[in-house]
Amino acid sequence: MSEQAFDIIIIGAGPGGYTMAIRCAQLGMSVACVEKDAGLGGTCTNVGCIPSKALLHSSELYHEATHGFAQHGIKVGKIEVDLPAMMAQKQSVVSSSNKGIEFLFKKNKVTWLKGEGSLLGGGKVTVKGESAGTYSAKHIVIATGSEVMPLKGIEIDEKQVVSSTGALKLGAVPKTMVVIGGGVIGLELGSVWNRLGAEVTVVEFLDRILPTNDGEVSKQMQRVLAKQGMKFKLGTKVTSAKAAGKGGVTLTMEPAAGGPAEEVKADIVLVSIGRRPYTAGLGLEAAGVQLDERGRVKVDGHFQTTAKGVYAIGDAIQGAMLAHKAEEEGVVLAEMLAGQKPHINYDAIPGVVYTWPEVASVGKTEEELKAAGIAYKAGKFPFTANARARAMTMTDGFVKILEDEKTKKVLGAHIIGPDAGHLIQELVMALEFGASAEDIYRTVHAHPALTEAVKEAALAVDGRTINI
Ligand code: FAD
Ligand code: NAI
Repeated sequence: MSEQAFDIIIIGAGPGGYTMAIRCAQLGMSVACVEKDAGLGGTCTNVGCIPSKALLHSSELYHEATHGFAQHGIKVGKIEVDLPAMMAQKQSVVSSSNKGIEFLFKKNKVTWLKGEGSLLGGGKVTVKGESAGTYSAKHIVIATGSEVMPLKGIEIDEKQVVSSTGALKLGAVPKTMVVIGGGVIGLELGSVWNRLGAEVTVVEFLDRILPTNDGEVSKQMQRVLAKQGMKFKLGTKVTSAKAAGKGGVTLTMEPAAGGPAEEVKADIVLVSIGRRPYTAGLGLEAAGVQLDERGRVKVDGHFQTTAKGVYAIGDAIQGAMLAHKAEEEGVVLAEMLAGQKPHINYDAIPGVVYTWPEVASVGKTEEELKAAGIAYKAGKFPFTANARARAMTMTDGFVKILEDEKTKKVLGAHIIGPDAGHLIQELVMALEFGASAEDIYRTVHAHPALTEAVKEAALAVDGRTINI
């Protein structure tokens, strides 16, 4: 049994934990990061952001080749999906990311404690597994992330009834797929399998998909995805799903508001109704770490839990479950522990849905501004009026910018369109710097570029667009 002391021990090597470990090492601390999985990088690298984006990109290329090339005057022969090769490409991206983080740990002298960590109280952590032992540290950080939210009455077998993890490694393209939950995972992974040939139906409890996005964006997104072949059953809840081998899965669903039930069959069912913090086996109670009413590790404004010297970041605590939010919290906490005074602006965290077109947003939605009684001006510009989008034959969508009528500060921005995930960054910067729409449109934008749609939406706030 080894006994070693560190300045800091971080439990979990996801984007929150591994980024924090590197930042702490840069700041001169001795750091250990406990990770139980074989590959570093957490949910994001192994079964989240990275593999999903790899499959989204590959399936987009296939869709473009089968649906988009002809319009550009490109004739191709028979195009087929080689699913094992596509999965191998995805896995190679995951593996290279795992190795990249391992290299960064070595470069920064971060000790990877391999195994499952739990808190013993009194600044001690015990590890079960390859690096078994008890370790001590001045500061301990919980960065254990999240897990799939189960749905009552439905057993996830990761074969026929899958979570996102199973949906990222199906062995064949299903004929039919039912996605429970019209949120980010449902639309991204639903898109992957829809593009590869599955008939996908999204069942959403509420009366709209992407319920936390700007309403206009959600509506347009549903129209665009419907054009791509996806079907939607809104205001509907699934009450059971029974897998029967070759017979597929039989789902029972009924209107969310009550009414007669119906049975639907599908080859594969994807359960994507959200995620919840993962803290199993951490020994929180013994260490005096309390959870809030939603099972999240309770922290104050400095990421301090209810146990002195124990902190928490990322998906395990309140706030958006996003990799970049976890990363920023890791960096900010590292700097706080080093005596610095860093800052994180929770009002300027972008959210991107990597469908095609993409959906990207930052700040307040129109619904939120109306509910808060804040007077605002909206400027909107469609991609149909952007020459570059027309050249790309990707004109679905628009940019919308919301500006405070009194202060002239941009309060929110919402994009549905090609490469929206990259386009939003200019608007995140606008929010961060307290910019006005005028600040955006007086900044020179290259031509011809998709970014000109952002400039035109800013011009629209002041009613002075040029190209529409
Ligand atoms: P995690 O990444 O969950 O990492 C926690 C780590 O802790 C894990 O490696 C786990 O094994 C380890 N761990 C847990 N308990 C212990 C223990 N006791 N001992 C040792 N190790 C332990 N976010 C985005 O921003 N963009 C995206 O495109 C995106 N796509 C996603 C796609 C999917 C399918 C999913 C599921 C999620 C996606 N997310 C995305 C969300 C993103 O993955 C999470 O927000 C992010 O990973 C959270 O980081 P984290 O460090 O808090 O936790
Ligand atoms: P989500 O919260 O995005 O969406 C869940 C959806 O399921 C909601 O629309 C909700 O109304 C619906 N729902 C809830 N209960 C239901 C029920 N019983 N029946 C039918 N519908 C129901 O959660 P999701 O998609 O599972 O993703 C989890 C988290 O992962 C997200 O919070 C997101 O932060 C993160 N993520 C981020 C991505 C990105 O940034 N591109 C990609 C994938 C995941």
